[in-house]
Amino acid sequence: MDAREIIAGLVEDAIRQAFPQAQVPGDIAGLLEIPPDSAMGDYAFPCFRLSKALRMGPPQIADTLQKHINAPQVAEARTQGGYLNFFFNRTAFASQVLASVLSADGRWGASDEGKGKTVCIDFSSINIAKRFHIGHLSTTVIGAALARIYSYLGWNAVRINHLGDWGTQFGKMIAAYKHWGNEEMVKTGGVQALSDLYVRFHQEAETNPALEDEGRAWFKKIEDGDEEALGIFNTFKEMTLKDAKKVYDVLNIDFDSYDGEAFFNDKMEPVIQELRDKGLLEESDGAWVVDLEEEKMPPCLILKSDGATLYATRDLAAALYRKKTYDFSKCLYVVAYQQDLHFRQLFAVLEKMGYAWARDEMEHVAFGMVSYEGEALSTRKGNVIHLDDLLTKAVEKAYQVLEEKSPGIQDKQTVARQVGIGAVIFTTLFNNRIKDIDFWWDRALNFDGETGPYVQYTYARCMSVLKKGAHVDAQPDYNALNNEEARQLLLLLSRFPDSVKEAMNRNEPYVVTRAVTEIAKAYNKFYYEHRILADEDSSAKARLMLTDATRQVIRAGLALIGVETPEKM
Ligand code: ARG
Repeated sequence: MDAREIIAGLVEDAIRQAFPQAQVPGDIAGLLEIPPDSAMGDYAFPCFRLSKALRMGPPQIADTLQKHINAPQVAEARTQGGYLNFFFNRTAFASQVLASVLSADGRWGASDEGKGKTVCIDFSSINIAKRFHIGHLSTTVIGAALARIYSYLGWNAVRINHLGDWGTQFGKMIAAYKHWGNEEMVKTGGVQALSDLYVRFHQEAETNPALEDEGRAWFKKIEDGDEEALGIFNTFKEMTLKDAKKVYDVLNIDFDSYDGEAFFNDKMEPVIQELRDKGLLEESDGAWVVDLEEEKMPPCLILKSDGATLYATRDLAAALYRKKTYDFSKCLYVVAYQQDLHFRQLFAVLEKMGYAWARDEMEHVAFGMVSYEGEALSTRKGNVIHLDDLLTKAVEKAYQVLEEKSPGIQDKQTVARQVGIGAVIFTTLFNNRIKDIDFWWDRALNFDGETGPYVQYTYARCMSVLKKGAHVDAQPDYNALNNEEARQLLLLLSRFPDSVKEAMNRNEPYVVTRAVTEIAKAYNKFYYEHRILADEDSSAKARLMLTDATRQVIRAGLALIGVETPEKM
């Protein structure tokens, strides 16, 4: 059992005994706090909430409860102000934490609390005929991590790549292709050739405005299902997806659905009709909008004056479709912060349509920008970092680092891949989402900092310790873990399940990244202060069990964020 739950159970019993008439708060485990300084205790129960109901000062409540705490796991329960602070009995605590972690079979903190519930996660959602660049890195790794975290907690996660495969730009691209492109060139040049064609279109259109009409005409053909137009467009789409899938393979990500904007093309009419029936559509300069003045937002544009639909119109149709198809309890959009207004408008329109779930169940999981070695990236300025290049470079650089640090290891290429890709993912998921990321190779690949390689290295260290101690066969003596370093580590291990839950509740994978980083740091402190295989076998056994538990939790945590764990480094 999780240490937090043990304490919660004790508090609950104490409340029942001390105040039989009182209503026991429903979520005691959630109320427990972790004191900022471990000298104050391992967990603290704040008595302020009870104070109102009991008409009694928090310090008195703490004093009263304290008299009812008597359990082998607790060495001491001490009151301080309105808090009841708990100190664990270290050996009992150690044996309990290790038993729980080791019996979880590598899935410590996993649960079925989400059983029967579905979460739709719209992430990565790339655009056709554009190369996959660093701007889509965050959505891709955050979304994939969330899908794993929700699944770990028993949810059914539906991973949706809402492709950007609709819009007038594709008409322009076909026009450009007809003028200056051919199959051969696109085949060899790949998605880059398509982007080049698009750039050329805009250059030439400046002196030849008739091109714009051609572009529009081709788009109209796509809309009307013209065979030639669709044929060309579908080739563009396949090419883009083929390239993207290479990146997804490297990152070990897949999707349940690639239904993107085009898919909703024939599903908007009923939504527009519904808006009209509900009296929500208003005319504005020939266009049709939903007014959001009450919500203090600009109106949401639904139909342009030429009858064309918009990004928002397709997202409305998509939201209703997802609700109907997947019956989600949550629907997340992992999309850059820049689209904040779009999603607020989308949710507001749905709410106006009478769908309260839009407020309760939908969330824009926003994130900040990425810059690269101190430089802002901009497609317009041609300052773009393509994801496939970034990942290739990561593996190369990791290889160089390994050559230097551990020249002797086997299968260096595989380890370099795990370390290089891991470093990129880890860096992306190290801070809260909204914080901008500045990507530096030296930082990402530093073995000594708070990095992927550092945590992976700690994992490999645990593996090697366990190998050296494989012969030890004795009953563990938990007194060997009666020291500050072991205590800190055990506490962190026991709290790991809380971190996973917190990561889910806040849709913040970095909570897991930080948890494994702290565990790795605590293990290394323990490792430097205590010789694992010294003394009696029984003492060594306890330290080895702690090592094994650490290894398993690091592995589980890194797996949740999508980082692999090499056995040797
Ligand atoms: N393709 C869009 C972009 O790259 C993101 C789409 C996000 N999903 C959505 N349902 N709007 O900016």
